Amino acid sequence: MWFLPPVARIRTVFVCQQCAAEHPKWVGRCNECGAWESVVEEAVAEKPKAAASTRTSIAVGGVAGAKPIPLARVEPQAHRRTTTGLEELDRVLGGGLVPGSVTLLGGDPGIGKSTIGLQIVAGFARAGKTALYVSGEESPEQVKLRADRLGCDESVLVLPETCLEDVLAHVEAVSPAILLIDSIQTVHSRELSSAAGSVAQVRECAAALVRQAKARARPTILVGHVTKEGTIAGPRVLEHVVDTVLYFEGEQGGGLRLLRAVKNRFGPTNEVGVFEMEETGLKDVADASRLLLAERPAGASGSAVFPTIEGTRPLLVEVQALAARSALAMPRRTTLGLDANRIAVLTAIVDKRAGLKLYEHDLFVSIAGGIRVQEPAADLAIIAAIGSSARDTPLPQDVVFFGEVGLAGEVRAVRHAETRLREARKLGFERAIIPAATERQLRPPDGLSVSGVASVSDLFTTLW
Ligand SMILES: Nc1ncnc2c1ncn2[C@@H]1O[C@H](COP(=O)(O)OP(=O)(O)O)[C@@H](O)[C@H]1O
Ligand SMILES: [Mg+2]
Repeated sequence: MWFLPPVARIRTVFVCQQCAAEHPKWVGRCNECGAWESVVEEAVAEKPKAAASTRTSIAVGGVAGAKPIPLARVEPQAHRRTTTGLEELDRVLGGGLVPGSVTLLGGDPGIGKSTIGLQIVAGFARAGKTALYVSGEESPEQVKLRADRLGCDESVLVLPETCLEDVLAHVEAVSPAILLIDSIQTVHSRELSSAAGSVAQVRECAAALVRQAKARARPTILVGHVTKEGTIAGPRVLEHVVDTVLYFEGEQGGGLRLLRAVKNRFGPTNEVGVFEMEETGLKDVADASRLLLAERPAGASGSAVFPTIEGTRPLLVEVQALAARSALAMPRRTTLGLDANRIAVLTAIVDKRAGLKLYEHDLFVSIAGGIRVQEPAADLAIIAAIGSSARDTPLPQDVVFFGEVGLAGEVRAVRHAETRLREARKLGFERAIIPAATERQLRPPDGLSVSGVASVSDLFTTLW
């Protein structure tokens, strides 16, 4: 027997696209998170009052759902993780996918989200498990083409469906061991009148999928697009409802892809997996530093090598700077993969402490390979690269630099110095210029000589 669902009342709300806070009227700036022009108008269907009041009465009066239990009786889940077949991904996840975990996989278009998604579900299929790939973006034929190219197991089930209610019903019927939704922005609920991809839709659909994943202890992966601003389109709230958030980084053209865990309820955050995009899919890269430095120009000015720490692993990256005489009254400052404010501060420090007259130059600073570096430990390498370009003198090829630089031009100690130095030595570097304070407490690896510098002017005297 069928019952008609209660007629939903539609109301208009004003929702912030950054933090999903609701406002009674439109405002130019969100009261909650302070973001400008992030509030958009949306129509949402209200739930019938009765349902809401029942829920409250259960919560207050009766004993429903879970019971309190001593921690001693809680079973750890670590042994139940399923490996994905991609070692780097497993490491980022903390050892594999946890049952009932929901993972958000974000990144720019074309970065490889569908590729890795298909590789994951195909891994489950290869192990003889039911794997379901819900494709709202591509037709089954397109998915098949990719699967052929990647050499995927053909028992993967593909569902070209975008309606949430139908997706949930199919998932219940098929009961897969893994579910992948590509992408969450294409899924929409019939119960809401707003368009697919809107804040309300994305939030409600993700919440429903999370409930189902938890109820069935099924690992679920949601693919999400990243907007121009670098957040996953629609609400940041998506990051709050899922267990794990992974972002793909890397250059479209280049083959290298970094997968970063920005949130992880079941493992380490800030851990980074490195992959290479090949015709047959994403491949684990164990020796990323070598790959990152492979195209480093020999004898060119403005290039400095910086051993960064991503999660727990060291990575050697190349900082490139180009200082070119400017014809503009306001010279240009362009950065790629680095914080623009940080570069502005470092430029001012170099100007003041080393007298390079950078205000007469356009300045471009980037990290090669499409990688983002946020560590202040990069300061010394950035300054060395800028100095080298401004003076048009190449830095020695076999030197790495790290150290944080303060406003007074002082070079401050940084963490994980020995790990950085070991990685540099492993790749054949013979010298490191590091903070003097760090040098004093350190045992450098054999074959690597270390020079400590206390200030920016010290650095310039050491170099030139
Ligand atoms: N024939 C091919 N050989 C090698 N790489 C390819 C090939 N076709 C596509 N790619 C890679 O796959 C990427 C697209 O991956 P995809 O998983 O569809 O991205 P997303 O789902 O994040 O938009 C392309 O940018 C390209 O790097
Ligand atoms: Mg895709």
